[in-house]
Amino acid sequence: MSAVITFANKKGGSGKTSTVVNVAGVLGSRGYRVLTIDLDPQAHLSFWSGVNTYDSYLSIYDALLGKCSGKDALFRSEHGLYDVLPASTAFSSTFIKHLLDKPNPEGQLKKVLLDFRNDYDCILIDTPPTVAALTLNALAAAESVFIPILLNFLAIEGLAQLTQTIYRINAAFNPDLRMCGIIPNQYDIRSNHSKRVMKEIYENFGENMISPRIRNDIKVAEAPEFRIPINLFAPHSRGCMDFNLLADFILDRVKIGKGASK
Ligand SMILES: Nc1ncnc2c1ncn2[C@@H]1O[C@H](COP(=O)(O)OP(=O)(O)OP(=O)(O)O)[C@@H](O)[C@H]1O
Ligand SMILES: [Mg+2]
Repeated sequence: MSAVITFANKKGGSGKTSTVVNVAGVLGSRGYRVLTIDLDPQAHLSFWSGVNTYDSYLSIYDALLGKCSGKDALFRSEHGLYDVLPASTAFSSTFIKHLLDKPNPEGQLKKVLLDFRNDYDCILIDTPPTVAALTLNALAAAESVFIPILLNFLAIEGLAQLTQTIYRINAAFNPDLRMCGIIPNQYDIRSNHSKRVMKEIYENFGENMISPRIRNDIKVAEAPEFRIPINLFAPHSRGCMDFNLLADFILDRVKIGKGASK
């Protein structure tokens, strides 16, 4: 059975996609069988992983509507460290209408994943900053959620909202969902503002909940151009070091078994 992990924060640009791609790359290089799911109509994870996002192809949205199986939409990255269920920039409001017309709209991703649960050790889900119905599907399908944040005071407000959403999902349709960690991204250790925000998060959530921080590193921003994760693009960078430590933290919090290699 794969561990299903969602990375969420409706605040745009907090580092969700960078975290999913780079953690997937690191876990893939350590021999874990990893599937990533791109739920974001911006399709950044898909593009970064080598999908030609301007072409026409079957996407996760087709699978969510039952127009194809998850396996029909599967994309195998050229580097081979992880597979992708891609998003599509051709996403339209008609999709949401069709999704909401279904009897169990928030349960469709969980259904799609049933096809994959013996094929991967872990499934990492990247969520959009908008389109609540998609994030709801991601939270309903997962057992673990991690929250990448940028350290400013509005981030704390966003964290409080997300915590409420997780409680509501626990009560309504997924009692297994657990918040497993907050990931401080682009942490500037010299900034007093960042330090104050960190202190506030420590006090509200406990030190145990905070992952090792990801420092600002231009290599993290450059890697998408080359369509490979940081551990292939810049293996000696501080970004690569930080994402390795983050992968250790995730492996400590979430039970991820290693299956037979593909
Ligand atoms: N540690 C880092 N160092 C340098 N740049 C970073 C770092 N993390 C993320 N970035 C850059 O910040 C921007 C936002 O990151 P990313 O796309 O991962 O966030 P996101 O939460 O997925 O955004 P969205 O909400 O739009 O999907 C990107 O341009 C990315 O390259
Ligand atoms: Mg993103």
